[in-house]
Amino acid sequence: MNTELDLAAKFEKLNTIGIALSSERDLSKLLRMIVREARSLTHCDAGSLYIVFGDQLRIEVSQSATLGESKLTPITFPIDQSRISGYVAATGQWLNIEDVYHIPEAAEYGFTKDYDRAMSYRTKSVLAVPMQDHEDNIIGVLQLINALDQAGEKVPENVIPFRREYVDLVLSLASQAAVAIQNARLILEIKTLFASFIQFCTAAIDARDPTNAGHSRRVRELAVRIAEAVNARTSPPFDRCKFSAEEIEALSYAAWLHDFGKIAVSEAILTKGNKLSDEKVETITLRFRLAKKSLKALAAAGTISPEQRTIAGRLDNDLKLVLDKVVPGPISEGEANRLRKIAALKLDGIDDMVTPLLTADELENLLIPRGSLTPEEYRQVQAHVEHTADFLRQIPFSGHLEDLANIAGSHHEMLDGSGYHRKLRGDDVVFQARILAVADIFDALTASDRPYKKAHSIDSALGILKEMAAEGRLDADIVDLFTEEIRTLEDE
Ligand SMILES: [Fe+2]
Ligand SMILES: [Fe+2]
Repeated sequence: MNTELDLAAKFEKLNTIGIALSSERDLSKLLRMIVREARSLTHCDAGSLYIVFGDQLRIEVSQSATLGESKLTPITFPIDQSRISGYVAATGQWLNIEDVYHIPEAAEYGFTKDYDRAMSYRTKSVLAVPMQDHEDNIIGVLQLINALDQAGEKVPENVIPFRREYVDLVLSLASQAAVAIQNARLILEIKTLFASFIQFCTAAIDARDPTNAGHSRRVRELAVRIAEAVNARTSPPFDRCKFSAEEIEALSYAAWLHDFGKIAVSEAILTKGNKLSDEKVETITLRFRLAKKSLKALAAAGTISPEQRTIAGRLDNDLKLVLDKVVPGPISEGEANRLRKIAALKLDGIDDMVTPLLTADELENLLIPRGSLTPEEYRQVQAHVEHTADFLRQIPFSGHLEDLANIAGSHHEMLDGSGYHRKLRGDDVVFQARILAVADIFDALTASDRPYKKAHSIDSALGILKEMAAEGRLDADIVDLFTEEIRTLEDE
């Protein structure tokens, strides 16, 4: 073997490995990749990777061609110079040992045979190098075990010492790995920070509208489940549509935050259950009582007019109607007319009565035909999606999160243009937003979020989704896929 040519090829390979390491963002995959590549570069049977945490060292990866990759939970131990890994971590010196069973007495480090005994293994040659980042901080130790001339040879029979030329090679790999680890850690930190920020945002919405609590979390779970189901499909219409891990992450964030804009909607509107608040109902009741008392006094004094007598005779029934209609529900034309008449009654001049029994605002609320919101309040609730998009646009997302504002801000768009707030149609509604729409409507239907609103059964909710798909409002393929997923969930 031409050693120089061999080494040149290995340095060439090192470059390729360096590029691969720097593009791996998943920390645990990265750590495994480092050990795997270092082993293949030096033809050794086994390798371990230790990471420094303060004054502790934690074994993160342990691979061996003979024993396989151990799935041990990471073990942490103090940085102790008497161990090989501890010595390298503490001093920053690399060690290239021919046979760990014959370490000279004078050496500061030693080798314990516990692992070998437990695993019936024989550790012989060891090359342990510090992993130093660009600021020379030792962030870990890469330990390679049992060099072989060719991969696949037997341990311990064919074990040879690590070639001296490999030390520089492995040191170089270790420092590239250290930088990649630092980058991956930084990205992980940012992700964790962002994830806690999102949880905080969601908690803030939940706190403002407890009847909606858990909605964002459930919508996220459902949306991610749909995306994963899309990925699992091998037949049309989803066989060519695959989400990357980063796209699923973006969808997950968009789902967490889709209703964040509710933070800008008045709490009184968000939590409005009845058409009028309890305080307003109390004021109206007092007004009726006062009117009754005043009219009674007029009657006793003999100064009551025939119109006033008629009013007095109807007051109890009128109040009953008002109280009935405070609760959301259907209202007949006859009832609406009676309410209008009550609001139009002239009570001025009767003792303290200067206001009508029902103000214009109270009448407008009582006449709401469905739900509890006036058209203006409804508009304000709908505006939450615009607020969500505006809020997310303020955050300078880049890369795979760039489209977050568009995805989250389109969750109420319908494919036929009947949604809001941009009234997008068809292909203008991004796929991820179509998924959100299905998950959002399903959760809104099945979770009872208002005391007066009964939750739909799963069958009924799926029926409504199917109808909406048939009307061209929701994506029919997503609704079909979602229905299958929900059925599977029910069977689980
Ligand atoms: Fe929404
Ligand atoms: Fe929602």
